[in-house]
Amino acid sequence: MAHYEWEPINGSAPTELEEKLLAYEKKGILVPPRRVVLNSEQIQGIRESSAINTAVLDEVAKHIEIGMTTEDINEIVHNFTIAHGAVPAPLNYQGFPKSVCTSINAQVCHGIPSSTVKLKEGDIINVDVSTIYNGYFSDASRMFIMGETSKENKRLVKVTKECLEIGAYAAKPFGFVGDIGAAIQTHAERNGYSVVQELCGHGVGLKFHEVPEVLHFGTKGTGMLLVPGMVFTIEPMINMGSRKVFVDRSNNWTIYTQDMKPSAQWEHTFLMTETGLEILTY
Ligand code: MF3
Ligand code: CO
Repeated sequence: MAHYEWEPINGSAPTELEEKLLAYEKKGILVPPRRVVLNSEQIQGIRESSAINTAVLDEVAKHIEIGMTTEDINEIVHNFTIAHGAVPAPLNYQGFPKSVCTSINAQVCHGIPSSTVKLKEGDIINVDVSTIYNGYFSDASRMFIMGETSKENKRLVKVTKECLEIGAYAAKPFGFVGDIGAAIQTHAERNGYSVVQELCGHGVGLKFHEVPEVLHFGTKGTGMLLVPGMVFTIEPMINMGSRKVFVDRSNNWTIYTQDMKPSAQWEHTFLMTETGLEILTY
């Protein structure tokens, strides 16, 4: 017997949402599981987590400077997060050894803070902060430019931020996750850049990583249906050269561009509302 996720429970009268999603399901459209359509109490919890996550990034922005090590950034993130009664989500996550990811230049993501890596003039660095507060997860990252950098680097950082914004605007209630990736890929490639395909955005909130997988490339009208109450990240990784990447085998975490050209990334946690996305990590 076919099982439908949005079939009313115990034969009770269907809610408006159950009726609507069940009809999508019967047409063969991929609908979100019930667990990722969050209630107002859960959303409030994620809002509070997101507010701390944003404050952590603001604290990094206030102190980041040339000559500082990436371990110094780790200490800022760790101490500020703990001081606000929260926990840094990366620490010990699948064995990750630090409280934040710091990814410089050709590092695409998952750079591990180190007391031997100093920020220098011209570096572009992504600081990726994720927070657990009262059991609720939030996740966002920003780029920082150290002093003066090349006009090519500046343009990469700017266009990558645009990719996040354009992807977010493409996400509409009862649209599809693929609408986001299609918009991002179009903007990146129109600017002569490539989109990393091996890593994606993700549902977030009750867990660090959940469905949907939010690809940053692909085709409009494909992937999971977007439903009000879903919370997920968009976090495009955009390369100046080839989209190809490799994993640093010395730590099995850090991702680099294969051609060692620069990569940039921006990330926010978003709530799907009745009218479009709301940024929770602003
Ligand atoms: N913050 C990353 C993301 O955007 C996850 C990093 S996993 C870690 O999903 F363990 F490296 F922190
Ligand atoms: Co993320």
